[in-house]
Amino acid sequence: MYKVVKRRQLADIITLLEVEAPEVAKKAQPGEFVIVRQNEESERIPLTIMDFNRDKGTITIVIQEVGYSSNLITRMQEGDSFVTFVGPLGQATEIENYGTVLCIGGGVGVAPVHPIARGLKEAGNKVISILGARTKDLLILEDEMRAVSDEVIITTDDGTYGMKGFVTHGIQSVLDQGIKVDAIWAIGPVVMMKSVANFTRPLGIKTIVSMNPVMVDGTGMCGACRLDVGGETKFACVDGPEFDGHKVDFDLAMKRSAFFKNEEAVAYGKVKC
Ligand code: FES
Repeated sequence: MYKVVKRRQLADIITLLEVEAPEVAKKAQPGEFVIVRQNEESERIPLTIMDFNRDKGTITIVIQEVGYSSNLITRMQEGDSFVTFVGPLGQATEIENYGTVLCIGGGVGVAPVHPIARGLKEAGNKVISILGARTKDLLILEDEMRAVSDEVIITTDDGTYGMKGFVTHGIQSVLDQGIKVDAIWAIGPVVMMKSVANFTRPLGIKTIVSMNPVMVDGTGMCGACRLDVGGETKFACVDGPEFDGHKVDFDLAMKRSAFFKNEEAVAYGKVKC
């Protein structure tokens, strides 16, 4: 059993949990993920790692309530346990000294960007982080991102905090300062990652995105997480979750992620009652 040792409410529907999982913490790297199940009957959810502490043997995850299983997890309290906590899974981020990098997190996507920004900073990069949220109350982990970045730009859709607009406006503001950007990591809703990739493609800036499709086994056997990347079928769980954003077929990914919408709505309705 994997015990929750710390719980923090980051926003109305976004919760941070630090979980005892020493074997996972021993090997975890930025960009990797875990698959968790709250109880024997809940579905398996992939969650990208927000932080790891090898000394304490803990992994920190951040989850947004979007349906049945995520609702169960966000209700967990300190002392509660997960029945399944498998990982680390996937390919780690290619951390090297690129020069100046942008680390972009949209919504709950700020969480997986955090260890990547820290790793890139430790590798000698100048890290400019762009954090996007719909509104000020949904912005998470600002202090943690400031601690691992040279500069932080905030954007909110409604202008309640930072720059009014989307993360692409944040990218434009960096470019307007004449800063040469060598690489970008963008993690958040698929539609946001698509916008960033479309923005940077004509500029020729290397853009890495982290895909989070439905997953079942997490070992490349079931095919549930398949994506089209550059005309080839890739499995997010073993080939990713990070991919070249200029090659990902985001429209197909969005279509596939909507497959179980009806079933999910029925299950969510039960747990909300
Ligand atoms: Fe089954 Fe990736 S989750 S192949």
